[in-house]
Amino acid sequence: MKSTSFFYALVSSTWAFPVMDDPETAQIARDLLRHYQPRDLSQDPLGISRAQTNCGPTPCTTFDAADQLVSVTGQNAYQSPAASDIRGPCPGLNAAANHGYLPRNGIATIEQTVSGLQALHNMQPALATALSEYAIATDGNVLEEVWSIGGPLPADYLVEGLLGTGQGFSYSHNAYEGDASIGRNDAYTNAGDAHSLNITKFERVYALGGTEDRYTLDKFRARFEAVQDESIANNPYYFTGAFSTVVVEEPSDYLDGYNFKSFFGVTGEPGNFTWIRGQERVPEQWYRRPTSDQNTAPDVFVDVGIGYAAYPNTLKFGGNTGTPNSFVGLDVANLTGGVYNAADLFNGDNLACFSYNILQEGIPDFLSDILNDITPVTSFINKYVGPIVGGLNCTQIEGQSTGLFNDFPGYKYSPSGPDTNY
Ligand code: HEM
Ligand SMILES: *[C@@H]1O[C@H](CO)[C@@H](O)[C@H](O)[C@H]1NC(C)=O
Ligand SMILES: *[C@@H]1O[C@H](CO)[C@@H](O)[C@H](O)[C@H]1NC(C)=O
Ligand SMILES: *[C@@H]1O[C@H](CO)[C@@H](O)[C@H](O)[C@H]1NC(C)=O
Ligand SMILES: *[C@@H]1O[C@H](CO)[C@@H](O)[C@H](O)[C@H]1NC(C)=O
Repeated sequence: MKSTSFFYALVSSTWAFPVMDDPETAQIARDLLRHYQPRDLSQDPLGISRAQTNCGPTPCTTFDAADQLVSVTGQNAYQSPAASDIRGPCPGLNAAANHGYLPRNGIATIEQTVSGLQALHNMQPALATALSEYAIATDGNVLEEVWSIGGPLPADYLVEGLLGTGQGFSYSHNAYEGDASIGRNDAYTNAGDAHSLNITKFERVYALGGTEDRYTLDKFRARFEAVQDESIANNPYYFTGAFSTVVVEEPSDYLDGYNFKSFFGVTGEPGNFTWIRGQERVPEQWYRRPTSDQNTAPDVFVDVGIGYAAYPNTLKFGGNTGTPNSFVGLDVANLTGGVYNAADLFNGDNLACFSYNILQEGIPDFLSDILNDITPVTSFINKYVGPIVGGLNCTQIEGQSTGLFNDFPGYKYSPSGPDTNY
């Protein structure tokens, strides 16, 4: 699994039906891309990636301790989850729930997600809204308007909805959860479990800190290239049809080994690391990014672009064909009827345009396995995402075909989970 499909989430912007008639919805959608400024990545993208601070594509120029210090006391005090609470594949969200920034049971509404992630990370409300709406639409419950940060929603949330299957993030394969993660196994090679931490993988990521004991987004990107190769070599069902953003949700403060272990719920030292399930924790004295410089959707777009431009081998579409190391790649030109190619994908609005097209054609396809009727999804995308894309300079793509993905068994692989909570 990887931090996949964040990209989908972004372009999908306002997907969920619960708020479809909400007049704020269209505004949120516009907010998502309002300040999007594609970055010129034609010169030295690797240098750009390496120079990036943990504050994202735009360096934070101010530091205000009072504004940025994250509370880990009072109602935000750390508490291990109860047996019935849900935790999942994302250490950031698990830690948020363990500190009450998200409901401690691991089931959140849009409002709770927005306020919690703003308080903990200064995530832009429009971004948090988009991410949680996408979660509700794909793996949550559209009637109750809640989503799960981990396993399936409990029975009382499972009112049969228009869309919601309530399988949660842990089993959102190809929607949120994807192959090749820096810390987790691929679902297929681990009996559907893509949420448990693999300590060997963790140890390798941990080693990136080096003697300076610092973790940067660039180091994670470099590592992503290695785990991607490893998945291709081992997972017969490896599939990637989405942009993976390689931990775009980077922590904002400087990240050293101590803090890194804390966020991942790991104790011990290299050689004897132990992951204790459900113990992801925000360190003391942790500073979020400044309120004046929130983490926005455009930042994420730019980050994605930088990542792929700096590590072009990671820009892959396709998968293994049923055996390890049988990767067949579809090139960007094939997927877009020649409108885009890998070389010009990062110019202008191309990346955003291409993502939209993949979304438009690809998402209903993989959702069709779990949903009875995808028509509302398609019309929703056209209605709400279309206008945003109208503001971009996109060339009309004729004959694009994500149908090409059907050749890959991993595209259709859809594990569903046991009711284990973490
Ligand atoms: C609404 C906000 C967020 C959503 C929807 C989200 C979702 C996810 C999902 C679904 C995964 C697993 C993807 C996969 O590997 O297959 C993931 C992984 C990850 N997330 Fe988040 N996340 C969010 C916020 C954060 C934040 C704020 C942080 C950092 C503090 C964070 C850090 C990470 C890391 C480090 C991983 C990789 C874990 C690993 O490979 O072991 N996330 N996230
Ligand atoms: C953990 O990951 C390593 C490296 O990818 C792999 O060889 C190993 O089989 C995994 N361990 C478990 C318990 O899944
Ligand atoms: C873990 O490893 C560290 C350093 O390698 C060592 O100092 C420590 O005693 C070990 N702890 C356990 C419990 O083995
Ligand atoms: C992909 O593109 C190549 C040339 O760029 C072409 O030869 C091939 O037929 C295309 N494949 C598909 C499936 O469209
Ligand atoms: C739109 O994109 C086309 C081709 O990608 C380019 O030639 C044109 O200058 C762009 N227009 C604007 C307003 O950026």
